[in-house]
Amino acid sequence: MLDLAPRIGSKDLSRILDLSPHEVMPCLELGLSLKADNRPYRNAFAQRSIVLLFEKPSLRTRVSFEIGFSLLGGTAVYLDHEHRPIGVRETIADYGRNLERWCHCIVARTMSHATIEALSAHTKIPVINALSNLHHPCQALADFMTLVERGFDFTHDRLVWIGDGNNVCHSLIEMAATVGCGIVVVTPPGSEPNESILRDAQARACRSGASIEVTNDPARVQGAFALYTDTWTSMGEPENPQRIKTFRPYQVNAAMMAMAGSETLFMHCLPAHRGEEVTDQVIDSPCSIVFDQAENRMHMQNALMLNLLTTPTSDPLSRTSTDATRSIR
Ligand code: CP
Ligand code: NVA
Repeated sequence: MLDLAPRIGSKDLSRILDLSPHEVMPCLELGLSLKADNRPYRNAFAQRSIVLLFEKPSLRTRVSFEIGFSLLGGTAVYLDHEHRPIGVRETIADYGRNLERWCHCIVARTMSHATIEALSAHTKIPVINALSNLHHPCQALADFMTLVERGFDFTHDRLVWIGDGNNVCHSLIEMAATVGCGIVVVTPPGSEPNESILRDAQARACRSGASIEVTNDPARVQGAFALYTDTWTSMGEPENPQRIKTFRPYQVNAAMMAMAGSETLFMHCLPAHRGEEVTDQVIDSPCSIVFDQAENRMHMQNALMLNLLTTPTSDPLSRTSTDATRSIR
């Protein structure tokens, strides 16, 4: 049965810690049921629109939001900000105050996480972070949906991240802290996750029972349910050949997978830089679930929007600027 009652307390998703454990679990379940059969929700977004504004390139995020939203009856408009960041032509606040008069949600991929926060602060409609320099919450939600599909047990199994302690890593740490599972983060010295994000996640982990370990020792991949890596240089970061050298011992190759375990799955948010953080042999092997992760982005994001877009404040027509305009209507 179609249930559009709001279940998520927060208006926005700027990072995973915006969601409580009680919000994350039903969202994962809804993502799985949308994947199995989306027919009960086919008109859920009728008469609704979202704007996708991207300051960085994208394949998966853009396509999964655009096609996903239209599959459930809505309209998505793409705004290309790759060459002109938002906040240049007019202020971020004015930009957001325009958009909220026409659309129901802003999906934003920005250089700086502060831009996501400014959009959230100045608009009444939901703002979804589609990747910033610090977080990639939609990716982490889809990744945990993929782990659940594969039988990941939150109480016993461990996810291991290896590589740069970056935006995707931060969101996975926050997910682990929220659902109460184990995560080990293996990075070269100097590329550990952001300290303040780690502190926030540890505080939640104390309540959920999650364990979060950060180490420089590649041997800690041993026993991983899944081994996850990502690019060594994220979008917007300067190329630094000296820094990249420190990552070589952290490449996910056949030897690294063998050290992890014979049943260990391989994960990557994509795009992959084959021959750098992962070899062809691993990413093309049967243990690789990278395209399941990509597929699940769409179902998970639709589950998220079914929650965020059905609150009364998310409807532009329910909060016009003056009583006069309301009476004309
Ligand atoms: N994983 C991911 O966000 O891919 P895109 O950069 O192609 O959107
Ligand atoms: N860490 C990568 C993720 C790409 C989806 C980046 O920010 O470029």
